[in-house]
Amino acid sequence: MINDAWLRPLRNLRLSVTDRCNLRCAYCMPEEEYAWLPRGDILTFEEIARLVNVFADLGVDKVRLTGGEPLLRKDLPRLVAMIAAEPRIRDLAITTNGILLAAEAEALRKAGIGRVTVSLDTLRPDRFRVLTRRDSHAQVLEGIEAVHRMGWSGLKLDSVVIRGTNDDELADLIEFGKRTGAEVRFIEYMDVGGATRWTMDQVVSRAEMLERLAARYGAVEPVVEETSAPADRFRLSDGTIFGIISSTTAPFCASCDRSRLTADGQWLLCLYATAGIDLRRSLRDGSSKEEIAALIRSAWQGRRDRGAEERLAVKDRQPLIQITELRARPHLEMHTRGG
Ligand code: GTP
Ligand code: 5AD
Ligand code: SF4
Repeated sequence: MINDAWLRPLRNLRLSVTDRCNLRCAYCMPEEEYAWLPRGDILTFEEIARLVNVFADLGVDKVRLTGGEPLLRKDLPRLVAMIAAEPRIRDLAITTNGILLAAEAEALRKAGIGRVTVSLDTLRPDRFRVLTRRDSHAQVLEGIEAVHRMGWSGLKLDSVVIRGTNDDELADLIEFGKRTGAEVRFIEYMDVGGATRWTMDQVVSRAEMLERLAARYGAVEPVVEETSAPADRFRLSDGTIFGIISSTTAPFCASCDRSRLTADGQWLLCLYATAGIDLRRSLRDGSSKEEIAALIRSAWQGRRDRGAEERLAVKDRQPLIQITELRARPHLEMHTRGG
């Protein structure tokens, strides 16, 4: 196990397996055109598995597959099986938009995915169409139903809450979560790269969400627990648990044990990092496992990132990165670094 400069261990690796997505969510991919990573730069499954093995040597025991939309990566269950074969990874999860989930759920589970998180921002098909610019709401709901029907526990539903867009659906989403055996988590709208339309007045804070839910459900109790997870969990009087990820108004940087690998092998020490470490080059220039481990170790030991906390200190917050810069540097996009 290795610690960074603030004594945060390296334990959690988010693997973006593709930068492509089959939705165009307003908070993540609002533009008409995107420049995709060159195909030849995308890591092969063998390269990803080699890196996972090195990260496991260094203490990583949680891996989450993300994208873009991870289920767009061809043959994904084969990669899942390769990672699942690494016994030190005790938690292997996936974050998906759910569109292709009904078709893939059985294969993912068989290959070794332990739990699934589906992004679901609205229960209304018309809103979904406006928010995502695609007409796939029914498929997302089918994906969620498929996981539920399989009796697959650990399902979570993530909703980015945006004022004037879906902030009147908090209770409906909680009720939907009860019906589908899922834990619902509300995410504060973040000013990350890609969120070029972000404004502070669209952010619904954790405090306001709790107020609204208390008005509807009565007392909301915090669940007392010690974790490095981004979500603070709460309990309604009927026992229903839900979470809030308050990265915008109350970030969890102090306990952040996560890093992320882009599909083309850039290793980012923070969601807000503007530069990464090029592990693809190390993989392809013949570096040994020990050399790659040494590079990772020394970078992590020097890590001081607290990106979300730094944003908190900015007065008059605007989107983190302007569109012209995003076009020139796609690695700054949330859909490239893994949502
Ligand atoms: P669990 O292991 O189930 O706790 O997963 P998770 O919450 O880490 O993963 P998930 O992909 O569901 O992440 C939920 C949301 O939290 C993301 O979509 C982001 O909005 C936010 N988030 C994830 N990673 C980071 C991070 O590194 N920094 C910050 N500030 N927010 C993050
Ligand atoms: N704010 C908050 N969460 C975001 N995501 C992407 N962009 C943002 C943003 N601007 C996260 C959401 C979504 C996942 C795919 O990425 O959690 O569910
Ligand atoms: Fe971790 Fe950076 Fe997110 Fe803070 S902003 S929680 S340091 S990834």
